[in-house]
Formats: sequence, C-alpha cells, structure tokens
Amino acid sequence: MAPHTEQLTRSAAVRLRGLTRSFDGRTVLDGVDLDIPAGQFVALLGHSGSGKSTLLRAVAGLDHEVTGEGELTAPERVSVVFQDSRLLPWRRVLDNVLLGLDGREAVRKGREALAEVGLKGRERAWPNELSGGEAQRAALARSLVREPELLLADEPFGALDALTRIKMHALLRVLWEAHRPSVLLVTHDVDEAIVLADRVLVLDHGRIGLDLTVERPHPRSYRDPLLGEYRERLLTALGVTSDVA
Ligand SMILES: Nc1ncnc2c1ncn2[C@@H]1O[C@H](COP(=O)(O)OP(=O)(O)OP(=O)(O)O)[C@@H](O)[C@H]1O
Ligand SMILES: [Mg+2]
Repeated sequence: MAPHTEQLTRSAAVRLRGLTRSFDGRTVLDGVDLDIPAGQFVALLGHSGSGKSTLLRAVAGLDHEVTGEGELTAPERVSVVFQDSRLLPWRRVLDNVLLGLDGREAVRKGREALAEVGLKGRERAWPNELSGGEAQRAALARSLVREPELLLADEPFGALDALTRIKMHALLRVLWEAHRPSVLLVTHDVDEAIVLADRVLVLDHGRIGLDLTVERPHPRSYRDPLLGEYRERLLTALGVTSDVA
C-alpha cells in the first residue's frame, strides 16, 4: 500500500476509501469509508480510544503512516482546532491569530476574525491573560482567518465548563452559518453532536458504525424532545443507556 503522502489529493470535499491505521500491529481504523460533501457539518462520536483523533489526523494530512486501498481526498485549505488552544504564550493574541500570515490585509482579517469570536479589544492581550473559553475563541479566530474549506475540530470544547460550552456551541454554529466550511467535529458529548451537527457518525471497531442525519432546523434547543430520539439512538450505538440506576 502506498503511504498517505502519495495518496492525499485535495478537493472541495472529504472522500475516504478503505482508510486503515494500525499501531504496533493493532488495527485502530479498519477500512473507513466516508464522504463529507462541501459545507456539511458532521460530528464524530466514539468511545475513548476508538480512533476519532486518529481519523481526524489522517484527514488533516498529519499522519504519514495511514494506509488505504482507496483514496483520501481533502480540501486545500484545512484548519484544525484542538482541545487546548495551542496559542503561543510569547505572542500576543492577534499575532497568534496571524501566525505565518503577513501584510495589512491579513491584519485586517485577523482583527475581523477576533471581533467575530467576541474578542474585539483583546488583540494585544497575552494568551495567559485569557480564560479557557477566550483562548478557544482565539483558536477559532486563528482557524477562521485562513478561510478554511474544511474545519477539523478535536474536542475543542472538552476542557470548558458547561456554561461556556453552550455559548461556544452557539458561536461555532454562527461562524459556520457565516463561512460554510465543511466541519468534522470530534466530541464525546452526544448532546453537543445533536445540537450542532447535521450529521452524526459513530466510530466503532475501526469503522463508521452509525451514520445519522439530524433533520431539525437551527437554532436547536437542548430541551427539544424530538432530539431525544436521536440521543437514544446514538447512546445505543455507543453501548450506553441513558438511565441511571
Ligand atoms: N502514536 C501512537 N502510537 C501508538 N498508539 C497510538 C498512537 N496514537 C493513537 N494510538 C492508539 O490508537 C487508539 C486510538 O487513539 P485515538 O487517540 O485516535 O482515540 P480517540 O477516539 O481520539 O480517544 P479519546 O476520545 O480518548 O481522545 C488508542 O488505543 C491509542 O492508544
Ligand atoms: Mg481523541
């Protein structure tokens, strides 16, 4: 099988065929097939260790040892957001957002992106002066400024408190409405997946075990009883029940 670097081709959407990844002889991704049309918002659920981050890294082009008998296609402009903001502590917020981009136009876009995520006026702050939620918003601004066709997010809100998380959900959805990238959002949180995504996948035993289209208009409410049905199906696919003893 050819190495990933030779296989990755760039286009406006994600297309995976037979994506396989093993670590020390242990297969984590076992022939994953996945298509994400341009502009679709997809959430990826799965148990800890099921291979979600591995899949995301492969799509991001960060894994050079992934193999597959088929194709791996992803857009040209891809941004990745992780659970921690990964801001460089020795650079001010705006400089972190611009990282690698130069020129007046880039600065204008950087300021605009910070304003979009509610950080107008914090351009000259240092990362350690930001709260966890603010740092994640700066990370979102950093990805936005690159105008990604595909936004890959690996539990971007996993370290935030519940209230901040809910606000970040609304923000992410607003940003998506405004820019319409394809999104692949890895999360542990079934409610986060249902409230945000138009399609929810469950990774199980190295493959996509469930592929669910969530047909509810936005904005969605966490209290919407119709979302309960989706929640039950997803929890069942994850092998858990929603009843507590
Ligand atoms: N570089 C590596 N070397 C060895 N094993 C690895 C490596 N990266 C991942 N793995 C293994 O692959 C499996 C899947 O890891 P991955 O990080 O993709 O899981 P995950 O679904 O993202 O889990 P979590 O929800 O806990 O973040 C795990 O068993 C992990 O130990
Ligand atoms: Mg992970």
